Amino acid sequence: MRVLDLDTVRLSEDRSCLEILDQTLLPGTVKVLRLEKIEDIFEAIRFLRVRGAPAIGVCAGYTMALIASRIEVEDYESFLAAFLEKKAYLAGSRPTAVNLFWALDRMERVLRENRNQSIPEIKERLFVEAQAIRDEDVAISRHIGEIGFSLMKPGDGILTHCNAGTLATAKYGTATAPMYIAWEKGMHDFRVYCDETRPLLQGARLTAFELHDAGIDTTLICDNMASAVMQAGKVNLVFVGCDRVAANGDTANKIGTSGVAVLARHYGIPFYVCAPTSTIDMSIKTGAQIPIEERDPSEVTQMWYKERMAPENVKVFNPAFDVTDHSLITGIITERGLCQAPYEKAFRDLGIL
Ligand code: MRU
Repeated sequence: MRVLDLDTVRLSEDRSCLEILDQTLLPGTVKVLRLEKIEDIFEAIRFLRVRGAPAIGVCAGYTMALIASRIEVEDYESFLAAFLEKKAYLAGSRPTAVNLFWALDRMERVLRENRNQSIPEIKERLFVEAQAIRDEDVAISRHIGEIGFSLMKPGDGILTHCNAGTLATAKYGTATAPMYIAWEKGMHDFRVYCDETRPLLQGARLTAFELHDAGIDTTLICDNMASAVMQAGKVNLVFVGCDRVAANGDTANKIGTSGVAVLARHYGIPFYVCAPTSTIDMSIKTGAQIPIEERDPSEVTQMWYKERMAPENVKVFNPAFDVTDHSLITGIITERGLCQAPYEKAFRDLGIL
């Protein structure tokens, strides 16, 4: 088994359920869940069994196609109403990654644009759209990878945070795509430092797992070691993913990313955000408007530990994301090209509206 060959999320062949690789069990156990009910898929997104902005978008597309296929009504208005109800429910699963809402809106658009078609025909088109979202995601990651690869040189040390890897997308990842492309092209002479990424350890459990599995020179570090590794001159580049980018280039990504950006600036290391255009939210001006998910305190106090590692009843703050100021970002790599400040203009020049 190679991680690159695994599907993060897919529709079962008979289109009766979603097959989701349960990422909470990795790296120890590779288990695929077969989920039929929207409540179970909601739970899988909420508890990070499927996670990473693009993968959540792909999951949302498939879910709406699956759920819509089971809506048993004859007329369009009732079909639309039932669809919108399910859509609103799924939208409540996680707040920060804009790809969730982007994919849900894209599915709704198909439904509205085909209002003159029969209900069975609309249902079919929803499946086609969901598959397109998945297939486009692979192509998008490859394009991001090609651009990111052009910024790499032999011997580089690259630091990444969280998992913006193949497990967070349909394939290749975003921040890891340059590494996989380098590998494919025969450039094996680079090292990757993975921040473990407290509290949910996506860096240790997922990024280190998939890069090591691919044969890439991978070193796991605790989050608080990044400064020492940079200070020692071991890092030439930072590639991270993102969950939402505001029009001015402010970027929400996994908690701890903004600290990495501050460090990179201090040590003069280029800091690149890898962002499918679906992650750019031009409807918001700055990062201050990005909703930041807060998660359960138990993730900080006891998850992954044999016993609780904090006093009972101590206050805990557990934001899942932070916002990196655009001024700390060297460039935002989209599938359409590399954007640099001023970001709003750069996005518009690429046709991102
Ligand atoms: O909470 P998660 O694991 O879903 O957070 C994931 C990240 O922050 C990723 O960096 C981001 O979604 C980009 S994935 C290509």
